[in-house]
Amino acid sequence: MTQEDLAFYGEFAPKLQEIENLLMREIQAMLDSISADSETALAEHIKCRVKSAESLKEKLRNNGLPETARAGLENLSDLVGARVITHFVGDIYTVLELIQQNKSWRVITVKDYIANMKPNGYRSLHVLLNVPFGIGGIPDIDVEIQLRTIAMDCWASLEHQLKYKKHIKNTALIVDELKRCADEMASTDLSMQTIRDLIQRG
Ligand code: GTP
Ligand code: MG
Repeated sequence: MTQEDLAFYGEFAPKLQEIENLLMREIQAMLDSISADSETALAEHIKCRVKSAESLKEKLRNNGLPETARAGLENLSDLVGARVITHFVGDIYTVLELIQQNKSWRVITVKDYIANMKPNGYRSLHVLLNVPFGIGGIPDIDVEIQLRTIAMDCWASLEHQLKYKKHIKNTALIVDELKRCADEMASTDLSMQTIRDLIQRG
């Protein structure tokens, strides 16, 4: 957390950091329960974060809510979030099954933007969870876990980098080009999955 984040979250900051660490450990343990060796690991990497004060304030403002940490905790579901980056598309659904089997988490919704990609080409699987992490009198909070392949994450990261806080001209051409890149990467993901299936079958 930056100084600005620490100041904004105030009394909630240490607890949010603890939740972020717990989430990281829980996901790691869940993945290790299937495979702890790097050859067959489901995840290429895992990332957890507490939403930055800047982006939380913007979201609260857009939702007509007071710009306070408490309002965020009570009303929003992605203050604490995680990303699990897998090698192959099939691994995403294996991780989803593990999440659904985890007794300490309650899955609220699954948004499958792989089966139903966003019109701009964004692909990922989002799982919204309710977890019994008590904080400041709030008994449990919602967290969002995003599951993506390396290729999906690569596209999302580049697209975010290109679009973030920029006024983009040439919009139709840029939208088409970004969508084309997303589709090419998705096609490569499918080919990679097929190659893996062929290798595994021997
Ligand atoms: P939010 O208010 O952003 O949480 O919208 P939502 O609740 O409808 O969630 P949604 O399922 O659209 O996804 C929200 C999160 O997914 C964002 O915070 C991003 O991390 C990611 N995401 C969704 N769409 C895009 C996209 O088009 N490009 C990129 N780079 N990331 C996206
Ligand atoms: Mg959301």
